[in-house]
Amino acid sequence: MRDLGSPGGGLGLGGFWRDTVNLRPSPPGRQAAPSECARPGSSRPPGGACRTPAMHRARGLCRAGVAAALGGSRALSALPGAGSAAAGAGLGPEAEADPELLRASSPELARRLRGLALVRGGFVSEAEAAELLREVEPGLRRGRYQSDHWDRAISGYRETERGLRGGAGRALLLRVTPAFPPRRPPRPSAHVLDLLPGGCVGPHVDSVKFCGCTIAGVSLLSPSVLRLQSLRDPRDRLELLLEPGSLYVLRGAARYEFTHEILPDEQSFFGGLRVPRGRRVALIFRNDPPW
Ligand code: OGA
Ligand code: MN
Repeated sequence: MRDLGSPGGGLGLGGFWRDTVNLRPSPPGRQAAPSECARPGSSRPPGGACRTPAMHRARGLCRAGVAAALGGSRALSALPGAGSAAAGAGLGPEAEADPELLRASSPELARRLRGLALVRGGFVSEAEAAELLREVEPGLRRGRYQSDHWDRAISGYRETERGLRGGAGRALLLRVTPAFPPRRPPRPSAHVLDLLPGGCVGPHVDSVKFCGCTIAGVSLLSPSVLRLQSLRDPRDRLELLLEPGSLYVLRGAARYEFTHEILPDEQSFFGGLRVPRGRRVALIFRNDPPW
């Protein structure tokens, strides 16, 4: 058993990732407001959106995290509205996370990130999940699993970025859109990330050059844990349990001032709950930077 505060609680590989990740903490006093796309840091033009899946984490800030266990079936069918258009309602900055899927290292942190780090179980139904997988598998199969990305922010993965043209994909895009500011909608293409059971995404902040203020991810197949860690104070951590079919949203401070990561199997705990990792496919939606 472990808790968020225990030494070695998933940070054993921290040095590895930190050495290779380009962290760019936001300057004090320039926090992004949750409902808009202002971002901390430079005002250089970005030179384009995330044109390849790797670009968003290749050069910019890189770091964040959360997790999921429970086998996935509980939330999928149990929640009202799962798999329906209603499941997309209430995803703005006023929205509440499912409390049982989120653990904060302190009540203050939970308050600070309220509405900014969001997790919802049962966002897509099992039938939708199967349909989405059918849509994205052919694109994924064109790539090979890679054991170590050159920037070492990720391992045991393959990925693609593509427009979702099937019915389930288009419906999902519509359903995650309320999580984005009205004038900063998600790009129509999704980043599809396929992680092997032994794969993980190391702590990073998505590039501010290529990605906007909001990140929304739908997890399929295996549960996992997403962990957020403050760039300013590493004791400030949040864990999100990402069940299959769940949605998470990161924006504002949760997107810019915390790293995020998908924990590797041996560190995959949500508090004391072991969250065994299998193959996990994530559909990640992002918007463009604000210029
Ligand atoms: C990423 C990332 C998280 C996920 O690819 O930048 O943070 O949900 N992925 O897989
Ligand atoms: Mn990321």
